[in-house]
Amino acid sequence: LGVRSLDPGYMNTAVCKSEVCFIDGDEGILRYRGYNIEELAEKSTFLEVSYLLINGELPSKKQNVEWSDRVMKHTYLHENLNQLLKQFRYDAHPMGMVISTLAALSTFYPYANPSLSGENLYKSEQARNKQIFRIIGKLPTIAACAYRNRIGKPYNNPQSSLGYTENFLYMLDKLSENDYKPNPVLARALDKLFIIHADHELNCSTAAMRHLGSTKVDPYTAMAGAAGALYGPLHGGACEAVLHMLEDIGSLENVPNFIQQVKNKSKKLMGFGHRVYKSYDPRAKIARKIADEVFAAVGKEPMIEIAIELERIALSDPYFIERKLYPNVDFYTGLVYRSMGFPTDMFPVLFCIPRAAGWLAHWVELLDDPATHIYRPRQVYLGYDERQYVELQNRT
Ligand code: CMC
Repeated sequence: LGVRSLDPGYMNTAVCKSEVCFIDGDEGILRYRGYNIEELAEKSTFLEVSYLLINGELPSKKQNVEWSDRVMKHTYLHENLNQLLKQFRYDAHPMGMVISTLAALSTFYPYANPSLSGENLYKSEQARNKQIFRIIGKLPTIAACAYRNRIGKPYNNPQSSLGYTENFLYMLDKLSENDYKPNPVLARALDKLFIIHADHELNCSTAAMRHLGSTKVDPYTAMAGAAGALYGPLHGGACEAVLHMLEDIGSLENVPNFIQQVKNKSKKLMGFGHRVYKSYDPRAKIARKIADEVFAAVGKEPMIEIAIELERIALSDPYFIERKLYPNVDFYTGLVYRSMGFPTDMFPVLFCIPRAAGWLAHWVELLDDPATHIYRPRQVYLGYDERQYVELQNRT
């Protein structure tokens, strides 16, 4: 290999220096900008956390009001985008709709593209913030339209006077029957889930965001690429896959047989294992607590019993112990979403909305890093040496 090292899947390659997020996979520690995830989930709001991730510090009271105000003012979609969303098939996967609409946003804001506005466009903080407000503001609206499309209902306009998560639930039409307002317990639970999903250093989709960002493409196109990476079942799609797995298992008696199939490698225990965590994912612990809060408000999701039994057996089985496989963030979140009434295919979308904050924090860091070069990994070529071309008529 000469001086080039082969590292399939980037198991041990650092491609940037970063100050956004810290993970200690052995100790199960996750911090955003130095703050422990447990404390942020308990005390902060998603919009505060997005400010923290992108700007490096928690906002002052004044900054928080301004930030929230700017984001909420960008929640409306251009009518043509609404029309675009309506053209999808009734059963289109909402994540496919979100990815396509993110890409489409670049055509609605052509001046956000450095190839039109000049390579130095994003040296200006104002130009960056404009796109950041738009993306964080519009994503829940796009997600809500995708959801409403999926259930064949008309779209609801955003209400910028509501909180971020509250407005999202409002647009989905998830309102309590008594006062036609989003249930505050569900709004807070979703906000906490958004906080724990907001960033996770160089996970596959964030690496994709940096990869695309390194070409200086506009952030909407880069976000569409990152969202595409998130969609995969080994990443943000895992939460959806966990629910399908629990449905397939069906009852507690089938759990030992399923675990045996996992050990025979004919099945995977979705929502388990992580590239970085070799102990309990701290986000899974928080999600488990949120599940109890939500179940207390709206009733228990029966499949939780299967999940608890899977975890109990797996954590005492040598296969999982030797490989250091523990529940990850996706193991319990699907059950919370299900009990809130979300269809399974909305789960990756619920991951995508908050992760946008992390993607944007890394995009900003990439723009400011003088060491940034276009991402261009090398390969180890194992193909033919030079060969003689044979004309088509002479081939057998
Ligand atoms: N079920 C059964 N076996 C597993 C699992 C699992 N969920 N995860 C890993 N293993 C085994 C794997 O077969 C391998 O065994 P062996 O050494 O005998 O070949 C060993 O553990 C190491 O696994 P790996 O696939 O080499 O590890 P990785 O770091 O490449 O993959 C992962 C990490 C998350 C893709 C993987 O653990 C996985 O596929 N988990 C299930 C999908 C999932 O829950 N994804 C969500 C990740 S967290 C949220 C996010 O970032 O999106």
